[in-house]
Amino acid sequence: MDEKKTLYSAIQPTNNLTIGNYAGAISNWLKLQDDYNCYFAIADMHAITVRQTPAELRQKTLATLALYIACGVDPQKCCLYIQSHVPAHAELCWVLNTFTYVGEMERMTQFKDKSARHAENVNMGLMDYPVLMAADILLYRAQYVPVGEDQRQHLEIARDIAQRFNNIYSPTFTVPEGLFLKVGAKINDLQDPAKKMSKSAENPNGSIFLNDGKDAVIRKFKRAVTDSGAEVKYDPVNKPGVSNLLSIYSIFAKKSIEEAEAEFAGMGYGEFKLAVGETVADSLAPIQAEQAKLLADVQYLNTVLKNGAETAARTAAKTLYKVHKKIGFYQI
Ligand code: TYM
Repeated sequence: MDEKKTLYSAIQPTNNLTIGNYAGAISNWLKLQDDYNCYFAIADMHAITVRQTPAELRQKTLATLALYIACGVDPQKCCLYIQSHVPAHAELCWVLNTFTYVGEMERMTQFKDKSARHAENVNMGLMDYPVLMAADILLYRAQYVPVGEDQRQHLEIARDIAQRFNNIYSPTFTVPEGLFLKVGAKINDLQDPAKKMSKSAENPNGSIFLNDGKDAVIRKFKRAVTDSGAEVKYDPVNKPGVSNLLSIYSIFAKKSIEEAEAEFAGMGYGEFKLAVGETVADSLAPIQAEQAKLLADVQYLNTVLKNGAETAARTAAKTLYKVHKKIGFYQI
């Protein structure tokens, strides 16, 4: 048996992924994949909590897998799979629902936000979303969950549910910990630096999508909102726009914030924004080319998914069996 600790994370295949998803999640996965036993899922069951177009969901699911690999996530080292291919997620979610209170779910910030944005479709799945996420993590007995800042509350509830279950029965679940990057855990909207950059932002100029071409990337960075003053300095409270751009640069140029500040010292905002745009566009180009190459080989991607689902299902079945036994489900 390998002694590595287990790491779990997932991304919803909704819309196109942004540099926020890359910065907060994927860039951290890349650093950790050698040292942990990693499961990285494509959370299609979470995606349907908001109405999706079926053909598009199918396409985005495969595109997300191709993107993971194109970014450098290695299917030889990590288990990559689609959430709906492992039925244990839904099964454990059902059990965990009976250990979760409606009040807790109603208090979730993301539930409140999404309910407001999709007032015509406040479905049970939207409310249950954090419990499914807890099931994802707990099935694999993951110690660590590398995610962006916006998932902190969901991770807290996963910990609460695990502890609650363990206290009622006996230690069953590993209580997971979030891994948040110091820089990159919250990339903000280029047009409104008070808001998180999102896949589903109303103003597409605020988000850089991983499939944006060079022209679009440069244009969006040129238009990015900066702050008063003229100094390129990291100060998230007083200079949220500039600090956000410095964070983005730091991730893509693989430099510290201090190094970035030094590089741009004395430079005007216009020149600075252009430099950040160039760096991001140049980093995205090879990823996009590799993604396109991978998407042309569906057979290979399907093999990765088939192997991934088999590996994931094996681990998940063991946890689910233990849980069913503890709660008193009759076993033959
Ligand atoms: P999702 O698909 O919204 O986002 C995927 C990952 O990207 C991070 N992220 C950001 N990080 C920095 N700045 C941003 N602007 C930004 N926007 C998004 C998110 O924090 C996340 O890490 N519920 C999850 C998917 C999920 C999951 C799980 C994650 C399902 N099951 C189990 C971990 C463990 C979600 O919707 O992520």
